[in-house]
Amino acid sequence: MNLVIAVDGPAASGKGTIAARLAQTYGLPHLDTGLLYRAVGLKVVRDGHALDDEAAAAAAARSLVPAGLAEDERLTTGEAGEAASRVAGHPAVRSALLELQQAFAAQPGGAVLDGRDIGTVIAPEATAKLFVTAAPEVRAERRWKQLNARGIEIAFEDMLADIRRRDERDAGRGAAPMIQAEDAVLLDTTDMGIEAAFDAARRIVETARARHGL
Ligand code: C5P
Repeated sequence: MNLVIAVDGPAASGKGTIAARLAQTYGLPHLDTGLLYRAVGLKVVRDGHALDDEAAAAAAARSLVPAGLAEDERLTTGEAGEAASRVAGHPAVRSALLELQQAFAAQPGGAVLDGRDIGTVIAPEATAKLFVTAAPEVRAERRWKQLNARGIEIAFEDMLADIRRRDERDAGRGAAPMIQAEDAVLLDTTDMGIEAAFDAARRIVETARARHGL
C-alpha cells in the first residue's frame, strides 16, 4: 500500500508549505493542484476568452502541460488565483484535470497532493487526510506580508476581501466544493507558526500511517 497524503484547505492556510515539507520528509513527489487551475485561468485570460466560457476553459485544461508550472512566477499572482477560482467552478474543467491528478496520486511509492478536493474527490482512499485552515484575518495577513516582502503593494482590507471572496466561491460551488472530508483531521493554524503547524501535520500523518500499518 502506498503512502498518499491529501492536504486540503483555503487560500493562505499554510497547506502548500505543509504539503511541501511533508513531501520532503517522506521522500514523496508533491503536486500543488492549485497550479493546474491557475495555469488554466491565466491561459483563458491570455487567449482573450471570458472566464465563464466553460468550453474555452475546458479546452485550456485539456491542453495543459503540467511540467514546469512550479517554476512559473506568473502563476503566483493574485490575478492568477482569482482566474483559477473562476475556472475551477466549471465541471468540464475539473473533469479534464481529474485523470492527471489521480495518476499522480496513484504512482508507485505514494505522493502528497494539496488543493481543495484531494481528500473528497481526487484521492478519497488517501492514507492521511488533513484539512488545514486559519482565521481569514490571519490568512490575509500572511499573504499580505508575503506580497509586501516581494515589493507588491496592496491594502490589507483588499487582501482580506479577496480571501473572503475566494473562500465563498470555493466552498459555495456545485462542482467539488471545498469541504473537509469526513475522515480528514482538522488542523487550525490560526495561532501557530510554520514549525508548530508542520509538527502537528507530521503527527497526524504518523497516526494515520500507524493505523494503516505503513
Ligand atoms: O491553492 P490555490 O490558491 O493555488 O488555488 C487557486 C484556486 O484553484 C482556488 O481558489 C480554487 O478555486 C482552485 N482549486 C480547486 N481545486 C483544487 C485546487 C485549487 O478548485 N484542488
